[in-house]
Amino acid sequence: MNKRFSGKTVVVTGGAAGLGRAHALAFAGEGAHLVLLDINEAGLAETRGLIEDRGSTASTHRVDMSDERQIIDFGKAILADHDRIDVLINNAGLHMGEIARGFSGMGLAKWQHFFTVNSFAPLLLAEAIQPALAKAKGIIINKSSMASYNPATAYGITKATLNIFTHAMATQFAADDIRCVGIAPGLMATEAAQQGVDPENWEKLKAMQYVKRQGTAEDIANLAIFLASDEGSFINNQVILCDGGNMMRGWRG
Ligand SMILES: NC(=O)c1ccc[n+]([C@@H]2O[C@H](COP(=O)([O-])OP(=O)(O)OC[C@H]3O[C@@H](n4cnc5c(N)ncnc54)[C@H](O)[C@@H]3O)[C@@H](O)[C@H]2O)c1
Repeated sequence: MNKRFSGKTVVVTGGAAGLGRAHALAFAGEGAHLVLLDINEAGLAETRGLIEDRGSTASTHRVDMSDERQIIDFGKAILADHDRIDVLINNAGLHMGEIARGFSGMGLAKWQHFFTVNSFAPLLLAEAIQPALAKAKGIIINKSSMASYNPATAYGITKATLNIFTHAMATQFAADDIRCVGIAPGLMATEAAQQGVDPENWEKLKAMQYVKRQGTAEDIANLAIFLASDEGSFINNQVILCDGGNMMRGWRG
């Protein structure tokens, strides 16, 4: 069977679980070689096993996206092994429990950590592997959130900042024919999302969707495949909501 990403290399951050794992498996199913980053090494090994079960290959790397030095060192190492990288999915992110608790009194150190992982690291990693993305005329996909359209949470603020970076990165990388697009998921069934939203709010948010079913990790993975494929190649400098029509309804109202 003809696979759309055979011979291509896809880098996924936060590949140990949830949406990152779903991205990895979707691209593996299309024949890609995966390069997976995370701080959760056991989860990375599990994802790699699932990829190999599908007949594809992967390398795994413990990289803390809050540490610029680790990102730069990873970039150097990966460029030595790969002269082309077709897709970078900046998926790693955290909510620090703030969605449920609110950010009052969070303190500067936590704000900085939040912004570093959710907003700044995607740019740092893209810069670290830019030559290989340029050679492949690749795409950067930044993982935003429906919450980026609501300024009421610190998480939403970090993701709104990432949306601005997505536009800035599309502009900056265009000279190298690298596209940059954001995906803003709604409420998708992952373990982390279920831990971050209490059951009552979960049901409330789900009821606000126009599409009356649970969003899945595969919904997001399928969108990324389309954006990275030839069929999606005219899409650039855009953040795309994938939330069952739940846009801008607010978290707590
Ligand atoms: N699931 C949802 O409903 C939803 C909705 C909107 C946006 N998102 C975003 O999608 C992404 C994935 O979400 P998920 O639900 O799969 O969460 P998840 O917690 O299952 O996955 C995130 C991964 O990122 C990794 N990670 C966290 N901090 C890291 C760091 N400093 N360095 C390297 N890796 C780190 C974690 O170990 C984890 O494997 C996140 O950016 C999240 O904000 C998720």
